[in-house]
Amino acid sequence: MTLSADLSRALQDAPETLPHSLFGLPDQPSHERVLLAADEATGLKAILAVHSTARGPAFGGCRFWSYPHELAGLQDALRLAQGMSLKNALANLPFGGGKAVILKPAGTFDREALFAAFGRAIDSLGGAYITAEDVGTTTADMRVVRRQTRHVSGIPRDDGGFGGDPSPMTALGVFVSIEAGVKAHLGRSLDGVTVALQGLGAVGWHLAEHLRQAGAKLVVADVNAERVQRAVDQLGAKAVSVDTILAQPCEVLAPCALGAVLNAGSIPALQTKIVAGAANNQLATAADGDALAARGILYLPDYLVNAGGIVSVAREHRGEGSVAAVKAEVEQIRDRVLELLERIKASGNTPAREADAWARSRLVRPV
Ligand code: NAI
Repeated sequence: MTLSADLSRALQDAPETLPHSLFGLPDQPSHERVLLAADEATGLKAILAVHSTARGPAFGGCRFWSYPHELAGLQDALRLAQGMSLKNALANLPFGGGKAVILKPAGTFDREALFAAFGRAIDSLGGAYITAEDVGTTTADMRVVRRQTRHVSGIPRDDGGFGGDPSPMTALGVFVSIEAGVKAHLGRSLDGVTVALQGLGAVGWHLAEHLRQAGAKLVVADVNAERVQRAVDQLGAKAVSVDTILAQPCEVLAPCALGAVLNAGSIPALQTKIVAGAANNQLATAADGDALAARGILYLPDYLVNAGGIVSVAREHRGEGSVAAVKAEVEQIRDRVLELLERIKASGNTPAREADAWARSRLVRPV
């Protein structure tokens, strides 16, 4: 058997990042479907992972990213798709979980043609998977996908109807979660509370605005210096380096950039009381959730608090969207945070393990 260059590189360089199976994640039931879609003419190489359709069609965004090797892309798609099942279940949405990863071509490519080919791949699943924007993709890409399939959401409307970038709603959900967590865990309002914010992108910026308005003090870091300067100028934030943001003394740490930031390396250095942010897959491993709890840090699971975006695109897709209706639904995340805190009091579980069990118990068709 001849290994592809990608696979042999993966085996040599990073065996720990290899998926243990093509079908799913370690110690978990298999995903329902995983489609590898390639299109020679456009350079498309995409992985469409349908984790579960038990609650309805699998709904989750499309990531466009450069991975060190194809299998890292597969691993990311599998993890993100499972995360969407849990997120959609806890958010009470009539959707299952899925995610797509497009491997960014190394050389030059025609972006429009590539996303058109991706749209055809989605359509071939006959509605089992519905896509939307995610890291590396834009609403313009989603418009291109829409020309090929109706199984896509998060598209701005020219007629003034509801649709488009879900990031502000994601930020709102994270904000109400932080507010509830601070009240329950620290017994105070956000006024004067220090929040360390990693990442001032689409979600992080809107979150920073909400926090500032509520009287929080902001400590921020981003690889994009311009965004940091804007936060300093407009929101009175204190800027720190990207290497030190996670270890800042604060009441709340809000990771809004990358996954796996809560790990064996970072957790011992944390100087926060609460972690709550938008980034997907913040815990590198399940054991890292235990390590946070052992340090007395309250972790509000990412897929519980960052569901505002999927609530938005789900309503848009069902034709039931309006800013007021989406806001009202997103604000219900606050109640679910409080419910989680009640549940962990009763069970003695860590928040991460309790949320996981709670979400998995809901991977059934809603009545
Ligand atoms: P974005 O790409 O707009 O923003 C990410 C920001 O993080 C950028 O400003 C980037 O410069 C910064 N960044 C990258 N590496 C960094 C580092 N090492 N240190 C500090 N900053 C760094 O992405 P967006 O949409 O704001 O999403 C943020 C996170 O939230 C992602 O993990 C995404 O998967 C997750 N998420 C986003 C949703 C949405 O509605 N946009 C919904 C649910 C989850």
